[in-house]
Amino acid sequence: MLDFTNQVAFITGAGSGIGRATALAFAKAGARIVVAEVNETSGQETATLIRESGREALSVTCDVANPSQIDTAIQQTVEAYGRLDIAINNAGIGGRFARLLDQTPDDFNEIMAVNVGGVFHGMQAQIRQMLKQPENGHSDRGKIVNVSSVAGVRGMPMGAPYSASKHAVIGLTKTAALEYAQRNIRINAVCPVYTHSAMVDHLLTMAPNMEERMRRVIPVGRLGHPDDIAQAILWLCSDENVFCTGQAIQMDGGMTAG
Ligand SMILES: NC(=O)c1ccc[n+]([C@@H]2O[C@H](COP(=O)([O-])OP(=O)(O)OC[C@H]3O[C@@H](n4cnc5c(N)ncnc54)[C@H](O)[C@@H]3O)[C@@H](O)[C@H]2O)c1
Repeated sequence: MLDFTNQVAFITGAGSGIGRATALAFAKAGARIVVAEVNETSGQETATLIRESGREALSVTCDVANPSQIDTAIQQTVEAYGRLDIAINNAGIGGRFARLLDQTPDDFNEIMAVNVGGVFHGMQAQIRQMLKQPENGHSDRGKIVNVSSVAGVRGMPMGAPYSASKHAVIGLTKTAALEYAQRNIRINAVCPVYTHSAMVDHLLTMAPNMEERMRRVIPVGRLGHPDDIAQAILWLCSDENVFCTGQAIQMDGGMTAG
């Protein structure tokens, strides 16, 4: 089992779905967790679940689209736990399901502010902090994972702004990984396929047979579970990963292999 004892993990959007599963998995492996969530109630629920399991957690209310709120959340992390070892930029929104011509400038701007702005401002604040701190004894200063999507490597009919935002997350990931490789910060992205969470469970209600239609395009024959994605994120952030950086790992049950 991967061991994150004494490491500090900051996770955005950790009040639900993939973010919550990732927070619980890091906590189980020994990390101290900072839950950064725009939804104060769900963020506190995740922190409570972690504390009830005997681990340490802090919940901070943070809108990732707002750079000063991210800066404050990172400051609160360092005040509480002294350093930042791991950052997961997971918070995201799906936006409206509509063809390109029916998407408005507001639809586009809102998705970009959260899904791209959140990763851009998040990495700025996180890397600034990681560069200030000594290496952790395992030859790395920090690990960052950004949550993109299969829609970050493929087009997504009815979701042009979302697909554009997730392509941008991969561009940010690769560029930051190249810029900070020699400073011993490893930066990767994960690209989930349809995964059971509030975001996808909402899509499942939009048409009959929706889950069956999603399942049919995933070679392993099922949708993802948040824990499937969490396990990949944990490995990318582990001491076992010293050489993988700048990658967008497809967590898609084989979908993009075809
Ligand atoms: N579920 C999927 O099928 C799937 C597939 C590919 C990618 N993703 C990506 O995974 C990530 C997590 O999504 P999920 O499926 O767990 O969805 P989810 O809706 O269950 O969780 C998203 C969380 O992000 C939070 N959030 C939203 N806007 C925020 C903001 N401005 N600031 C801080 N927090 C904010 C929400 O409150 C929520 O708790 C997203 O980036 C999403 O795009 C999900």
